[in-house]
Amino acid sequence: MNGKKAVMAVSGFALFGFVNVHMLGNLQVFLGREAFNRYAELLRAEPALLWAARIVLLTMVILHIWASWKLMVLNKLRARPVGYVMKRSIVSSYASRTMYWSGPIVGAFVIYHLMQFTWGVGGTSHDPKDPYGNVVHGFQVIPIAIAYVVAMGLLMLHLYHGAWSMFQTLGVNHPRYTPLLKRFAQVVSIGLFLGFSSIPASVMAGLIQ
Ligand code: HEM
Repeated sequence: MNGKKAVMAVSGFALFGFVNVHMLGNLQVFLGREAFNRYAELLRAEPALLWAARIVLLTMVILHIWASWKLMVLNKLRARPVGYVMKRSIVSSYASRTMYWSGPIVGAFVIYHLMQFTWGVGGTSHDPKDPYGNVVHGFQVIPIAIAYVVAMGLLMLHLYHGAWSMFQTLGVNHPRYTPLLKRFAQVVSIGLFLGFSSIPASVMAGLIQ
């Protein structure tokens, strides 16, 4: 197995796990200010644990970006040893081509997201003691709420194609289970999109205030 692809698959899987847990946690916004803020406080109750999780997460992000960079350079070298006149365009590379633009956009989204909700420098009001208020005020700015929904759409694409590439890397190829795994990747990606997007959408609709 290609080592860089394995790094890509393992780090991607870890990040996928984080995104699922983060979405489930965020859905508590529907339980009201108190429940959401209590949850956010709980996450910060053990600084050592929080920092350990942050370091693991950051390491996974760095590995994921490093492996994607290496694979992109490798692909370019393989695709054009002397420079083709026509760009290579085959169905199997569709997923990877999507990954190379959806990935950086999702990365840019995460940086803005941290600026907004963690560091409080995203241009929307920020009170470290009131994450619920930060989310509501953040999404009351309609262009920001819409940008989040678009970013979640790209994240959904990225995760769906990512899961599909991961199965290929791991050599999962079974007439019965491969279609089931693909269906699972599709359902989870759509579930994440709906779960995350429901928050900015509900703030825009005035359901969360
Ligand atoms: C509607 C969607 C989302 C909402 C409402 C949301 C909400 C939040 C909030 C409130 C925080 C700050 C928690 C605190 O410091 O108290 C946070 C942190 C964070 N979010 Fe999100 N999030 C969303 C989507 C995402 C997505 C899609 C990703 C990744 C692709 C993500 C990655 C992160 C990361 C990495 C942190 C920093 C965790 C830390 O180290 O403290 N978020 N999010």
